[in-house]
Amino acid sequence: MQTEYIDLKNVIDEEKLREAAIAIKNGDLVLFPTETVYGLGANGLDEDAVKKIYKAKGRASDNPLILHIAKIEMIDILVENINEIEHKLIENFWPGPLTIIFKRKPIVPDIITAGLDTVAIRMPKNIIARKLIEYSGKPIAAPSANISGKPSGTLLKDIKEEFEGKVRYMIDGGKVDIGLESTVVRVINNKVHILRPGRITKENIESIGYEVVIEKQILGEYDGKEKVLSPGIKYKHYAPDTKTVLVYSKENEKMVSKIKELALEKKAVILCRSENQSQYRDIETLNMGESLEEISSNIFMLLRKADKLEKELILIEGVEEEGLGLAIMNRLIRASGHNYIKL
Ligand code: TXA
Ligand code: MG
Repeated sequence: MQTEYIDLKNVIDEEKLREAAIAIKNGDLVLFPTETVYGLGANGLDEDAVKKIYKAKGRASDNPLILHIAKIEMIDILVENINEIEHKLIENFWPGPLTIIFKRKPIVPDIITAGLDTVAIRMPKNIIARKLIEYSGKPIAAPSANISGKPSGTLLKDIKEEFEGKVRYMIDGGKVDIGLESTVVRVINNKVHILRPGRITKENIESIGYEVVIEKQILGEYDGKEKVLSPGIKYKHYAPDTKTVLVYSKENEKMVSKIKELALEKKAVILCRSENQSQYRDIETLNMGESLEEISSNIFMLLRKADKLEKELILIEGVEEEGLGLAIMNRLIRASGHNYIKL
């Protein structure tokens, strides 16, 4: 398939966007930006179109997809009923980086939900994503745009090669804002369970008055036996090919010395905060930034960059598992294949 590239980095070309929306309607794949990460989109009500997503990504068929909507009215055809807490979550956090799991209606194809009786829905904030959905008139199924197991795409240039010839259009919207996939939640017995942490934090949800439960697999290892609320947890994700080790200590000096020690034995590159960069003198470093927001927007791009350097080892400085730090550590622990040294 011939892939056409649409550059909307600086201005939105309405005509081109409508062409891409027609491709969605016709059952083709379109790669597009959202505020979290790039998505690999297809008409979520067209089973054959959705099959192409699984094929292009090499994704396991028991890992369900998120349906993206542009207007709240779109939700009524997809979900059974919305309770008060779900209404409040929608009111407070949509459009934005929050995915909510609802009881699904029969119109949602099994291939979207991997046979579950629930469906994941999100209303993105990114204007290109919103218009693409609106112009197509369909809920768009879209996983993160990356080959399964690899870091999600936060810049089109990082994923262009992976999907060249597999999608009808690639829409370039520049570097995404957030850089981590949406927070995935499900309301169970009046509590909000976080199945995947993201930019909407536990603290954000508590601030609107609800009790939040963080699923324990988020920072731990999946043992292959336990029942999981979110099938995505079972799979390897975000991982570079190079061996990767994550190190964290509340005491910065302790973390830095451990990383230096590990870097002695092998040809290494270090992903570190700007404030620590000068401490690693002779070792190559990549700057993750200062604030948690900066770090979250940079990590997937830097994991890809580090992998290309062909070192023997990628070493990463961890952050405190609080607020947005929880989502960052969830991705980093998985990126390192659970090679996590906590001091
Ligand atoms: O920010 C995002 O959410 C991005 C952008 C493109 O919107 N999308 C994304 O999709 O990250 P994906 O497919 O990479 O991750 C979807 C996650 C998976 O972990 C999946 O297991 C979970 O959501 N999920 C989907 N449907 C579910 C359901 N019915 N019940 C539980 N978990 C579900
Ligand atoms: Mg993904």
